[in-house]
Amino acid sequence: MINLIIKNKEDIFNEVANIYVNKVEENDSITLGLATGSTPIPLYDKLVEKYEGGMISFKNVKTFNLDEYCNLDINDKNSYHSFMNKNLFSKIDINTNNTHFPTANSEHVDEYNELLEKTPIDVQLLGLGSNGHIAFNEPGSDFKSVTRIVDLAQKTIDDNSRFFSSIDLVPTQAASMGLSNIMDAKEIILIAIGDAKANIIKEIFANDEVTEDIPATILKNHPNVTFYVDLDAAKLLDEK
Ligand code: GLP
Repeated sequence: MINLIIKNKEDIFNEVANIYVNKVEENDSITLGLATGSTPIPLYDKLVEKYEGGMISFKNVKTFNLDEYCNLDINDKNSYHSFMNKNLFSKIDINTNNTHFPTANSEHVDEYNELLEKTPIDVQLLGLGSNGHIAFNEPGSDFKSVTRIVDLAQKTIDDNSRFFSSIDLVPTQAASMGLSNIMDAKEIILIAIGDAKANIIKEIFANDEVTEDIPATILKNHPNVTFYVDLDAAKLLDEK
């Protein structure tokens, strides 16, 4: 069962930022699963503010990112390494040795699964693709999937082209945590913001169906998952 919280955007980011402050206070060496995309940026901004205000320290926190593009230098401005450095890691006191990304090199991709097995994720943050993907687990992904190299769906390439100067420069493959890695997290927080997510949110909550055609529906089988959905993304839900 998914806990569904519908609120305005500002309230969502305040609430989720406070949750992180409390969790890190309870366990200063917590393991966090982190996400990229435009959705988590306001959350990262708030965490930076809280760090600057002395309310949170990431000194002993460990992080695991969901995914990274293939065939893109990690120093490229569009890599997820660069995204995390720019939006969070360079602005807080995290030890970069404690931050992890899947390697986008097929020979070593399985090392991430071994690491995740040794260091289970306490709280996994997720965004939501407009086609229902989580991380880069595109529609049709096996529910038992683990970290691997995946081909991106055309919809994802189109959605992500806004960050690149030309659609031809958008990578077509990525290394991504699998659905089973995500389901292993003790707790999951998914944030969906804006009109572009309204259709997929409606589809996920239309019935109890859990289907590989909509990867995010697997989360209905997780014991501790909360969806924070803003008023725009929730606009097609009846219970709004
Ligand atoms: C990418 C990421 C996903 C993210 C999705 C949504 O495809 N791999 O982890 O959830 O984008 O992005 P946005 O938050 O920009 O809508």
